[in-house]
Amino acid sequence: MIGIGITIASAVALVCGQGPVTTASTTVQTTASTIPGAPQPSGIPTIADPSSLVIPFIGTTNGGHVFPGATIPHGLIKAGMDTDSPGNHAGYDGDPKFNVTGFSQLHDSGTGGSIPLSNFKLFPFLQCSTFEKCPTTIVNRKILRKVLPDGSPDDFASPGYFSTNLTNSIRVELTATRRTALHRYTFPAGTTHPRLLVDITNDGQRSSTEPQMTLDPNTARVQGGASYAASFGPGRYKAFTCVDFKGAGYDLGKPTEYGVWLSNFPVRGTTDLLQVYYGFISEMGALFTFPPAPGGGPTSILVRVGVSFISASQACANAQEEIPDFDFEKVHADSRAQWNDLLARIQVDTRGVEEETVKLFYSSLYRTHISPADYTGENPKWNSTEPYYDSLYCNWDTYRTLYPLMSLHDPVTLSKIVRGMIDIQKHEGWLPECRGATVMHFIQGGSNADPILAEFFVKFQKQAEALQVSATDLYNALLADAELQPPNWNLQGRQADLWKELGSPIVYSQYVPQDTATLIELQGGPESFIARLNFIFDQDYFESTNEPSQQMPFMYHYANRPGLSTQRSRQVIAQFFNTSTNGLPGNDGAMGSYAAFYLLGLYPLPATSQILLSSPYFRQISFFNPVFNTTTKIVSKGFAGNPLDGTGGQVFVKSVAVNGKPYKSNCYLDWDVFVNGSLVELTLTDDITVSCGTGRDALPPSISTGGYS
Ligand SMILES: *[C@@H]1O[C@H](CO)[C@@H](O)[C@H](O)[C@H]1NC(C)=O
Ligand SMILES: *[C@@H]1O[C@H](CO)[C@@H](O)[C@H](O)[C@H]1NC(C)=O
Ligand SMILES: *[C@@H]1O[C@H](CO)[C@@H](O)[C@H](O)[C@H]1NC(C)=O
Ligand SMILES: *[C@@H]1O[C@H](CO)[C@@H](O)[C@H](O)[C@H]1NC(C)=O
Ligand SMILES: *[C@@H]1O[C@H](CO)[C@@H](O)[C@H](O)[C@H]1NC(C)=O
Ligand SMILES: *[C@@H]1O[C@H](CO)[C@@H](O)[C@H](O)[C@H]1NC(C)=O
Repeated sequence: MIGIGITIASAVALVCGQGPVTTASTTVQTTASTIPGAPQPSGIPTIADPSSLVIPFIGTTNGGHVFPGATIPHGLIKAGMDTDSPGNHAGYDGDPKFNVTGFSQLHDSGTGGSIPLSNFKLFPFLQCSTFEKCPTTIVNRKILRKVLPDGSPDDFASPGYFSTNLTNSIRVELTATRRTALHRYTFPAGTTHPRLLVDITNDGQRSSTEPQMTLDPNTARVQGGASYAASFGPGRYKAFTCVDFKGAGYDLGKPTEYGVWLSNFPVRGTTDLLQVYYGFISEMGALFTFPPAPGGGPTSILVRVGVSFISASQACANAQEEIPDFDFEKVHADSRAQWNDLLARIQVDTRGVEEETVKLFYSSLYRTHISPADYTGENPKWNSTEPYYDSLYCNWDTYRTLYPLMSLHDPVTLSKIVRGMIDIQKHEGWLPECRGATVMHFIQGGSNADPILAEFFVKFQKQAEALQVSATDLYNALLADAELQPPNWNLQGRQADLWKELGSPIVYSQYVPQDTATLIELQGGPESFIARLNFIFDQDYFESTNEPSQQMPFMYHYANRPGLSTQRSRQVIAQFFNTSTNGLPGNDGAMGSYAAFYLLGLYPLPATSQILLSSPYFRQISFFNPVFNTTTKIVSKGFAGNPLDGTGGQVFVKSVAVNGKPYKSNCYLDWDVFVNGSLVELTLTDDITVSCGTGRDALPPSISTGGYS
């Protein structure tokens, strides 16, 4: 039961109080204080430090491929531990039997494909018999983490921070700004020759070509980079780094030994990769020996690692600008404050709710904001003043729930991602689909930037200009997507010639989520539709790991049986999601935003102004939307907790009132509810036979029934 072990480990670490700004405890913290920027309606005790409720290790075993290291929201830098696990797509594996190979700077989270972005690993050596005998290759240098008495690894993570203890008692801590990582290596007392390695070539895949590196023997600054393979596409990308060292609490001075290493051969006194042997393209870098801290106590060395996709000198400039003074505590505090500002925009009332559920919610919300990554200023392909977002793995996964969740509480980031997508279309001719590491990846089907742009425009057209999104450019990008046949549909993602041959997609409607009424008709009416849905779930045909299935548990709404949706969606959470390291059914993808919506009792229909409604797992929830400057609160009357297996309970929505007036439907909310900032009151019952209501607008709209006009 490794998974449970990890949860306990992080709880233990929380109790121990990691890091100077961590005010965490294992109990849910609520204070009466107001969070700046997030005015709360009275009556919901405010969670001021939601970061303390995030468990970054969820999904770090069992194929979740979740990144648990240090990053800011949508940071380019995702500094984390790399292991030699076969499932190390995000570098880390929560199973302590796997060895540590280094601490690298980029990473993706929750993806398949080949290992992406494990670039520029650092690695500490406690004692090599000599500089030349340091085992520098990955296979030779790797080391296990310490294991706690319960069998879990001695690792800790919280938003913006990661730490571990290696079996040689070196402690490693990581924190990050957008384009710069800050590492702290603490060598045990008595260490005489603290050594640190920089790996320029290994990206997790051993794909590097054209490596370059120089080191400065006086300052120990390392500048370098190479060309690397993308994760699941034909493209390659270049990345560059700039690494600087500083003693923590003492003057580090000059390195006492320095040199380039190739494979297992550190060559003392060399400064330039190209001067020495060439050919070990997967194993090259720099190695330093530093003077230990005076007095014989523990030696802490800070390492600042800038990364750029443009040049090593830009990596240096980024690092100097973002972390001028190597202040680990300040960087950590800033990073956590950014997370708290974001996460606290959605508040939940924790009274009467399992702590596991509260942590599952904030951890899921947290993972919604790891990717895409903000590469603004780091686009190597063209110069632009527009934002540039990358790691869009993949729109097929994310358009359904990730961007609609952003619409509720983080529309400014959504607007920047949309601007970035439009800018890519302007320069390359095609909206991005599975872009990562600055290049196109193979797509999963369809043309799913369209519903993301439309999601933004349907909900924020009045604010588009203020958010610097050009309606004309957005329309032109959609038009190009619909009209132009690309050279490689599996990279650019659309087969315009097909619809032109077969007719308008509106007439031949291919798209079920927006026309479920027609689907029900084709399947013989509501009763047989319900029977088919039941059959899918009862036979275990429901594919919890695949984003296109995500709406299915909510589709009973369209057959006027919302109680069945409530029960199915809660059963999905009970069966497939928990806070253990194996608590995800598969690759994370957009599972974070999906689980968050289910826990909020909502499911969005992307690019429409409707959100399907069920009952939240909390007696009260609220969303602060910074663009509208409004807060919407959903209150459940008769809330009586959540059945652990998702079955039964007083969780079914009998009636809905908005701002004190009966609402037209018990099954969905229109977007204006969230624009205005409303009080939504649900009355709950234990009767699963509830309906959407009796009025003309009670059923959620479909295109064929005149919806979305
Ligand atoms: C980790 O490294 C240790 C020491 O080199 C080795 O004994 C062990 O087999 C390694 N574990 C794995 C999973 O490779
Ligand atoms: C590592 O060891 C230090 C003591 O040196 C301890 O404070 C910390 O809790 C341990 N665990 C982690 C994950 O940092
Ligand atoms: C962007 O502008 C800089 C400065 O003028 C120039 O050096 C660089 O080549 C430009 N990049 C591209 C991709 O055009
Ligand atoms: C957590 O969920 C996974 C599957 O998603 C499951 O295998 C595991 O047993 C669950 N753990 C607990 C403690 O419920
Ligand atoms: C946002 O709304 C609050 C009241 O809820 C008001 O005090 C504040 O001035 C508003 N801010 C802006 C920028 O309009
Ligand atoms: C939201 O505000 C608009 C404009 O004041 C109003 O027309 C609309 O009815 C309101 N919607 C709700 C759900 O209160």
